[in-house]
Amino acid sequence: MKNTPHINQTAEIAETILLPGDPLRAKFIAENFLENPQQFNSVRGALGFTGTYDGKKISVMGTGMGIPSIGIYSYELINVFKVKNLIRIGSCGTIQNDINLYDIILAQGASTTSNFSYQFNLSGTYSPIASWTLLDKAKKTADKLDITNIHVGNVLTDDVFYCDDETANAKWAKMGILAIEMETAALYMTAARYKANALSILTVSDHIIKNQQTTTKERETAFTSMMNIALKMA
Ligand code: HPA
Repeated sequence: MKNTPHINQTAEIAETILLPGDPLRAKFIAENFLENPQQFNSVRGALGFTGTYDGKKISVMGTGMGIPSIGIYSYELINVFKVKNLIRIGSCGTIQNDINLYDIILAQGASTTSNFSYQFNLSGTYSPIASWTLLDKAKKTADKLDITNIHVGNVLTDDVFYCDDETANAKWAKMGILAIEMETAALYMTAARYKANALSILTVSDHIIKNQQTTTKERETAFTSMMNIALKMA
């Protein structure tokens, strides 16, 4: 068993991990979708579990919100715990009229307002993208499950939830951004840098331009399609 400043390992961690933002959602998934779940972390309430699904070992862990938080956990999971496949299962707010609440978005790319990439000292702008292997698997799994309310494209990983600039979203929408969330760009950059595979599967929990939201309870329990894609492809 290994230790980092943020993960005090108490059970095995699988090569494939599902990463919801909310640690209680990680617990819910472990208890309702995995067989024989063992808790592997509780530091800072970032609950993590490993169990089996269809005979395959799979882990699930809450990352917390935002780039710094998922940046820390993805770094440690890849570099210390040798995790190979990191699948974020999160929520997002759409900024497109033809996308609906509860639709699913596969984040092919993640634009960002964050400066996370400064650390790589690049001489230009980096494009964080999903693992093609995972993206292709996720779309094929969704097709097999007859999940048709699914979109593949670019999302915005925003550093700010309560943005003071009310004109910002419309400009991102014009560039084809499907939805806004707060973690994917860091996950994709960390996976690229340390040679792991990453994908974000997102459920639309907010319609930012139509001003519609799901409730907290719905967010916790109603994301079965997304979980089915993630678990069956893993
Ligand atoms: N903005 C940013 N992140 C989000 C949102 C949102 O509206 N909904 C879920 N995650």
